Amino acid sequence: MSNKVFILGSFVADVAFRSSRLPAWGETLMGSNFALGPGGKGSNQAVAAARALAGSGHKAQFLSKLGDDAFGKLARDIWEDAGVDASLTRNCIVATGAAAILIDEKSGENAIIIVPGACFTLTPAEVEEATDDIRSATVFLTQLELPLNTVERGLELARAGGVPTILNPAPAPTHPLPDALLALSDYVIPNETEAAILSGLPVENLEQAKAAAKKLQALGARNIILTLGSQGALVLTAEGTETLVPSFNAGPVVETTGAGDAFCGGFAAALAEGQPLLEAVRFGCATAGISVTRPGTAPSMPKRAEIEALLKKAS
Ligand code: ATP
Ligand code: RIB
Repeated sequence: MSNKVFILGSFVADVAFRSSRLPAWGETLMGSNFALGPGGKGSNQAVAAARALAGSGHKAQFLSKLGDDAFGKLARDIWEDAGVDASLTRNCIVATGAAAILIDEKSGENAIIIVPGACFTLTPAEVEEATDDIRSATVFLTQLELPLNTVERGLELARAGGVPTILNPAPAPTHPLPDALLALSDYVIPNETEAAILSGLPVENLEQAKAAAKKLQALGARNIILTLGSQGALVLTAEGTETLVPSFNAGPVVETTGAGDAFCGGFAAALAEGQPLLEAVRFGCATAGISVTRPGTAPSMPKRAEIEALLKKAS
């Protein structure tokens, strides 16, 4: 049987600059490197899932919207390369958006401004047109780079069809999330910043992460997977079991941008294949562990054989 991860989300072009520090307002700073590439959390996660599933007979299907422009072509090219089924994604008259990514050349950490553009015109009604495709999925995955009512409609349709739902509440919301979003999610995957904002609690160590995860469950989410950067991921199951799944060292860290996307895409792929929760989290950590050793976001997503080799080496 062919299983499917359905991803509802954003595409934007990533315009990435490396420098020794952030510029101050009014300052012009000489950087050391520049790259233009495909990004957007939804698309990055779709690429990660498709590469992880390649050759398994399962697939990743992506719903978004693009402008009819050069940035939109970047999207089509990476989806074709990764084997993402983007047949539902249409062009529109609004320009494709972009993300300005500033990367610290020493640590690989980043600061991002995103203007989502075309994908932000995706409406709940347009998501409804994909109802049959959503209902035929094995796993549904979405994030917060689309209008919240569009995200919510996707989660509702998946839940009504009995499809397990994953919400990556990224980027960190600037307003309180509608209660329904967490309640509609079988797996919520925040990073530390997002967990702190959603729970209203500090998340600076493992004990605080556990408390924040419990608070998110109290707000309606079922299973919480709180990603902790180089520490790995904390899993709090709906039954209340806590496990810290360690990260993987796949080599020197080059750029962490997209690590969360690699994790989500890899995790969703493994879940769609029927892997148990903790194995799927381990698969997500391995996917992300490789992605941070490479520059770029979508282009840094590893192939299935690379993920399997890392998992084998570490076991
Ligand atoms: P980003 O915003 O940079 O895309 P994020 O903040 O959403 O990422 P993180 O919690 O930083 O997400 O990382 C997600 C996962 O990526 C972690 O759970 C871990 O498995 C992996 N990861 C992140 N940083 C590292 C690292 N330095 N070394 C190995 N694995 C890492
Ligand atoms: O998660 C990383 C992504 O966030 C980047 O690709 C950028 O496009 C922003 O949306």
